Amino acid sequence: MHPSLLLLLLLCSLVCFLALGTLCAVSDARAFFIFGDSLVDNGNNNYLATTARADAPPYGIDYPTHRPTGRFSNGLNIPDIISEYLGAESTLPYLSPELQGEKLLVGANFASAGIGILNDTGIQFVNIIRISRQLLYFEEYQERVSALLGEDQAKKLVNQALVLITLGGNDFVNNYYLVPYSVRSREFALPDYVQFIIFEYKKILTRLYDLGARRVIVTGTGPLGCVPAELAVRSRDGSCAAELMKAADLFNPQLVHIVRDLNSQIGSDVFTVANAQRMHFDYISNPQAYGNCIKLLLQQIFIALNDGEPPGRHYRFHIVPAD
Ligand SMILES: *[C@@H]1O[C@H](CO)[C@@H](O)[C@H](O)[C@H]1NC(C)=O
Repeated sequence: MHPSLLLLLLLCSLVCFLALGTLCAVSDARAFFIFGDSLVDNGNNNYLATTARADAPPYGIDYPTHRPTGRFSNGLNIPDIISEYLGAESTLPYLSPELQGEKLLVGANFASAGIGILNDTGIQFVNIIRISRQLLYFEEYQERVSALLGEDQAKKLVNQALVLITLGGNDFVNNYYLVPYSVRSREFALPDYVQFIIFEYKKILTRLYDLGARRVIVTGTGPLGCVPAELAVRSRDGSCAAELMKAADLFNPQLVHIVRDLNSQIGSDVFTVANAQRMHFDYISNPQAYGNCIKLLLQQIFIALNDGEPPGRHYRFHIVPAD
């Protein structure tokens, strides 16, 4: 190595050490924030008096501890795998008493099983953290980090963080289609209902942006009619429930539209839609090729992140075509 380069490196580390102190150590991995429902909840509902919980077997049987954790999964969930790719430990549930001090800098998971875009989604679960409350907690979180790092550093941490939001599935399965002749299904024809919830979702994403989120993955809904619980109730021959498939088919392209609108209003690709529907079908139709599909997909995102470019750039391959 050229001596002057070495000196420069030494100087840089020294400046870093002197100017930022312990911050150098914690700024290595990007912070990560998660909002949404059971697909991404990693234990908040354990702290709530609700029936929407995953604190008993078989949840967690493939988790490293082989114990239920509150994740609605046999093992790791998507946020865990994303954390792995960020080179960070999994985020803690926001309600966890362990979420203190330096742990706050890893990020936080605000998700709560059972919730949806609408406040009346999941009312049967009684005590869950609806999305407006999740966003209030995000504000509270930022105040706590400001107290720790100062306002500027806290803002920077939030602006540079990766954000994942997963909403919408429950507005169908735990609202519109929960019971025959549900209130919402009497109020709206399906296409009008989709338009209504998409309009509400846009407000939620705008709020997220206003709160400082700048790199946001928005997941579309998967094939809702193929969910085992729905197959059990609605399918005689094992084929996926048609009405719920139609709901997802209406929802996903409109989600892409509002995300494009928002990005063009902002003038930057802040939001990226992840095509959960296509990933799911790719996986079913060609499991060998996609045995590692989630990891491949995440690699795409993180190549983009590490280059300091918005995820949208390299991630386009996975965006749902608008028409
Ligand atoms: C849901 O409730 C919150 C908090 O009460 C409120 O601010 C928000 O406007 C409500 N959303 C809808 C769609 O009614």
